[in-house]
Amino acid sequence: MTDAIEHLVLRPVTAAEYTAWFSAVSRQFGEDVHEDDIAAYRDVTKLDRTLAVFDGDEIVATATIDSFDMTLPGGRQAPCAGVTAVGVRTTHRRQGLLRRMMLRQLADIRERDEPLAALLASESGIYGRFGYGPSTPTLTLAIDRPWARLARPVEPGGIRLLDADTALAELPAVYERVQRSQPGMLTRTPARWQLWLGRDPDHYRDGYSARYHALLGDRGYVVYRLKDDWRDNAPAGRLRVLELVAADPEAAAALWQYCFSVDLVATVEAEMRPADEPLVHLLVEPLRLRVGAGEPLYTRLVSVPDALRTRAYAAAGSLVFDVRDDACPWNAGRWRLEATPDGATCEPTQASADLSLDVVELATAYLGGVRFSRLARARRLDAHTGDALATADAMFATDPLPWNPFSF
Ligand SMILES: CC(C)(COP(=O)(O)OP(=O)(O)OC[C@H]1O[C@@H](n2cnc3c(N)ncnc32)[C@H](O)[C@@H]1OP(=O)(O)O)[C@@H](O)C(=O)NCCC(=O)NCCS
Repeated sequence: MTDAIEHLVLRPVTAAEYTAWFSAVSRQFGEDVHEDDIAAYRDVTKLDRTLAVFDGDEIVATATIDSFDMTLPGGRQAPCAGVTAVGVRTTHRRQGLLRRMMLRQLADIRERDEPLAALLASESGIYGRFGYGPSTPTLTLAIDRPWARLARPVEPGGIRLLDADTALAELPAVYERVQRSQPGMLTRTPARWQLWLGRDPDHYRDGYSARYHALLGDRGYVVYRLKDDWRDNAPAGRLRVLELVAADPEAAAALWQYCFSVDLVATVEAEMRPADEPLVHLLVEPLRLRVGAGEPLYTRLVSVPDALRTRAYAAAGSLVFDVRDDACPWNAGRWRLEATPDGATCEPTQASADLSLDVVELATAYLGGVRFSRLARARRLDAHTGDALATADAMFATDPLPWNPFSF
């Protein structure tokens, strides 16, 4: 199981080493080590999926994997390895430790037959070389409250404010209902819900209040924080949406309208909203909505054929991809994807390619959040036949666009 890098040893940590491993993760991210975080994360950390690089007795690099299922276009769930806690001690950077951990993880993910991996990246430049592509773009939004009015207001009412324990009992069912049909959305285990809503330490709050949880029956919820502020004798508070999940358009409108009704708030802000967020069209004054690029989920096709044959396609068609994949050579080569209304097949082929691309571009386009033609215009891939891009765009189109609402 161990993998020596000269005198360095790469292996999973034991239960006795977990505290040192978690402390190393915190320090690599420039965070203080909090005893209560160490205990809280223990429940979601599978020791056999952790990795640490040991220099003597000291841990100098870390990574782990949390297991999720991801909803694919068409509604199937696929196992997805959630890569996280990746870091290298400053003294050991740029010596190839990240590369060693990434390659070891990809081999492990393949062995476990997980067709997909996913992560959130601190910097976009890091993970492309390992085949991770930004498949689910998101938006950050902010609007000043005087402008936050809906063109078609919703009848108010029906929203309850819940304490944390009740939220923990009632929100997961709503999330699961939405998750089952929303491409890109990951399952959350009870342990992950507990990690998120079961505690709310000060160091998570960024100067904001404790969390509020507003639930609209079984149709949606918004979890948010408030920041009390006054300027020039006027309220200048902020409401930060942490997660707004709705099962139908009216519920989404009602929850936004609720956020816009909170007194003493001057600005409502949200991160990691879907790329096709309807809010812009809900507003009387859409130009007052400040929209920025948010954190995408980066996806990796660990098995190109399994990933391609598991999702459903918006149009029938046939395409030959010539795939480059340095980190997972088992994916490299030509693959013929055939999609029919009854399902898809993906097999190796000697036929000439319609599209040549790196696996990172295939991952970027895989969930339908970024079109092949857009990647071609960015000179990220080559089309060899006249209708290849139009065919690929039509086959991979997804509605709604893929979305992942949370960091892990
Ligand atoms: C990002 C980090 C993990 C890189 O670790 P590392 O061991 O120095 O990386 P490696 O030496 O294995 O580098 C592997 C490749 O990634 C590149 N790379 C490393 N860090 C990079 C960065 N921040 N941006 C772009 N490329 C980067 C290297 O140049 C190298 O490229 P090459 O294969 O073409 O030569 C490390 O700098 C770190 O811990 N940063 C702070 C925590 C963090 O941001 N973690 C990522 C969380 S998502």
